[in-house]
Amino acid sequence: MSVSNITILGLQWGDEGKGKVVDRFSSNVDIVVRFCGGANAGHTVVVDGPEKNETQFILHLLPTGIIHPEVRCFIGAGVVCDPVSLFEELDDIKSRGIDWEGRLFIDYTTHLVLPQHKACEKYSENINTKKALATTLRGIGPTYADKADRIGITAGDLADDDRLRDRIDNFIKKKKPFLSILHDQNLSSPEKLHEFLKPYAYRIKAMLTDVTFELRKAISDNKRILFEGAQGALLDIGLGTYPYVTSSNTTIGGLFYGLGLPPGIQGEVLGVVKAYTTRVGNGPFPTELKDATGERLRKSGDEFGATTGRPRRTGWLDLATVRRTAFMSGVTGIVITKLDVLDGLDQIKVCIAHRYNNTLFDFPPLYSGFMEKVEPIYEKLKGWQSPTAGITDFEKLPVEAKNYIKFIEKTIGLPVKYISTGSNRKAFIEIS
Ligand code: IMP
Repeated sequence: MSVSNITILGLQWGDEGKGKVVDRFSSNVDIVVRFCGGANAGHTVVVDGPEKNETQFILHLLPTGIIHPEVRCFIGAGVVCDPVSLFEELDDIKSRGIDWEGRLFIDYTTHLVLPQHKACEKYSENINTKKALATTLRGIGPTYADKADRIGITAGDLADDDRLRDRIDNFIKKKKPFLSILHDQNLSSPEKLHEFLKPYAYRIKAMLTDVTFELRKAISDNKRILFEGAQGALLDIGLGTYPYVTSSNTTIGGLFYGLGLPPGIQGEVLGVVKAYTTRVGNGPFPTELKDATGERLRKSGDEFGATTGRPRRTGWLDLATVRRTAFMSGVTGIVITKLDVLDGLDQIKVCIAHRYNNTLFDFPPLYSGFMEKVEPIYEKLKGWQSPTAGITDFEKLPVEAKNYIKFIEKTIGLPVKYISTGSNRKAFIEIS
């Protein structure tokens, strides 16, 4: 089995800067694959445009590799695909000169996000705003719920109109009690849903494939694959800070489950960790900073959601949880992103353990019932005053920044292999 594949996963609450990292490695692979989540993700890539002007792509559902003309891209069965977002993104990249036809494939069993899912999510998020999860409102949770309930409609269903009508009838019948409280006739009408899906059916049909088969074939042809994670480990539906999580498996298991591939296929597993912590949405956040330092991180890190525009909550790096999430996914190397955002701080705190009921946990449980109550135990490190932004050579970093990186390595027992020092593709350090 090929081990030259590469997997890129977030080890915090998402928004670690995976987009840039995936983009960086996409030029060395043949295939980029998404295996979990949907258009709730927001992967930002900044590239040099014509005359060296910077141009930015924000991808939600498309694998980041799509902006590399030689790369084939796959959306696996573990993803939920919103046809509206899909074609908005495809039309956008096309208008910006990226030819994607013949390079993007979707598994027959990838579930479709429907207007009903978005409407149901909006309703349930508004029922009790105090207990709202503050989701991205992209219909992700309800789509996975209907998948588990076996009433979902998949991309493959679009290829056969009789089957599609049948699946739509079943879906609407079974959902009717819930849809009726939304007071929107259109949402309870099988005809309207068919009308909505029909234009997409024609376009999606050409992309349908058996992703497991294609990737197996690619592997035997010695093609190199990049597996692109979405969100972060702490948002994993089963292993994260439930219920404040997304609805897919964002840790390594999601790769095998979401693509039908066996363990071993993942190759090198790079865990992406922001030099501090952010989270969007509600839920426990032990190292959160609600003060001027938190505001400073938000401003200099431009911490506003790529999908929703919401301000992100900010806080110190929590290595106790990263130690755990790196272990859970068998991470072999760490990528530290946004190091430059810490430039100019006098002191930087790093959480090395959680205290709960007078017990110290250096491998803390993620159960939110505990996490809401823990006290973070900090180590204080000296900050650096000269800028790291744009530095590409580890040796050129200020000594305190090097110490910060070494401290991370020592605390979690894994090598930091790459450091990102800015949003541009080139602001990247490879540590040999
Ligand atoms: P959902 O995935 O839209 O259902 O949202 C569930 C939780 O996951 C919310 O707290 C979201 O803010 C969070 N979330 C979902 N996708 C992302 C992401 O790409 N980055 C960061 N947080 C996310």
